[in-house]
Amino acid sequence: MKLNLTGANKRGKLIFDIGVSNLKIMEAEERHGFVTVQRSSLIKLPENAFTDGVLTSPAKIADAIAQELSASGYKAKPVVLTITSSQILTREVILPKSSLKDMMLLVEADAPNHFPVDISEYSVDFKVLGEVSEDNLQQYKVLLIVTPLKILDSYVAVFEKCGLYLEKIDYKGNSLTKLVRQIDDIQGYYQEGSTAVIDIGDAHSSVTICKDGYMKFSRVFNFGSKLYSDELLEFPGVTGEIAERIKKEKGVILDGEEDTDDYARAARQAWSNFGDPLLDEITRVFDFFTSRESVNMIDRILLTGGGSMMPRLIRYFSSVFDVHVDYLRCEGLVEFVSPDEDMTMFSMFFGCCVGALLSE
Ligand SMILES: Nc1ncnc2c1ncn2[C@@H]1O[C@H](COP(=O)(O)OP(=O)(O)OP(=O)(O)O)[C@@H](O)[C@H]1O
Ligand SMILES: [Mg+2]
Repeated sequence: MKLNLTGANKRGKLIFDIGVSNLKIMEAEERHGFVTVQRSSLIKLPENAFTDGVLTSPAKIADAIAQELSASGYKAKPVVLTITSSQILTREVILPKSSLKDMMLLVEADAPNHFPVDISEYSVDFKVLGEVSEDNLQQYKVLLIVTPLKILDSYVAVFEKCGLYLEKIDYKGNSLTKLVRQIDDIQGYYQEGSTAVIDIGDAHSSVTICKDGYMKFSRVFNFGSKLYSDELLEFPGVTGEIAERIKKEKGVILDGEEDTDDYARAARQAWSNFGDPLLDEITRVFDFFTSRESVNMIDRILLTGGGSMMPRLIRYFSSVFDVHVDYLRCEGLVEFVSPDEDMTMFSMFFGCCVGALLSE
């Protein structure tokens, strides 16, 4: 029998990051820590189709996926999914240092002691966060992660409906940590302190703190840059389209800036509606992290997610936190098969997908 491998890519995978406003699909392969992107799509999802990591309209999402896969000629079948949800519970524990197989057994035995839920309805996973020495014993600091089986089952069903199979699930904090580690490795970047990655989406934002390739802490907030748009919509004559334009053009309003017109006044109010709670939450996370151990300090902030492209957000965070702030860029790590891809735009939307594809 002659196999027809024309255009087939045996190592390629489909990586999915489903967001409240955008579904991201990327077909890519990873070799020795470098990623080649065959194609990628950013698809606007219908309202209320997805919320907090849960597929509220699985049929609509399956349709949107199937349509895009066929229209854009996606070929790979194995799926890597990167997710986050307030229903995914985590706890930090200390466990004896052991092999991966033994760790899984330890984790399964230990997990019921840490979560006030019926663990049989959850899938249990773990990530090693680093090593600690206690009583002359080397131990692992481990993040236990439990995910409701009903959430996982709904993803499996959606991907099956599209003729795909779910090969791996990664958690966004972990995806972003791997991405930062890999980019730093390639660029030879080294800092004493920690990096905070801030992902600003539509209905969620998150802060992930990582250091030396390990995730130290990750927190998701149940609000995103949609708050900015919602405030704009309160102004007479502002439609959804106008709101999106004002957000992209005016973005952050810095202290001391003059309001030149009604839109500028609206943008100031919109920014304060979103920027104030965002700053509160981020500050709380930083304070919590830095107060835990005296060596914990934040050296750098890297931004990702559509909302982080708000003009002047980098300048704002730099002045408030007085650390280096930049976008989390995939330069040097990712190459595109298509010459038309814009690296900055891609990095803002597909950072979690790239990180999910990277090995642990
Ligand atoms: N250039 C831009 N400037 C400011 N905001 C932008 C820009 N482009 C997109 N956005 C905003 O980014 C948001 C979408 O970003 P993203 O795709 O990261 O969110 P999501 O992953 O779908 O949502 P969530 O993470 O909350 O589930 C929208 O609120 C949109 O208005
Ligand atoms: Mg998102």
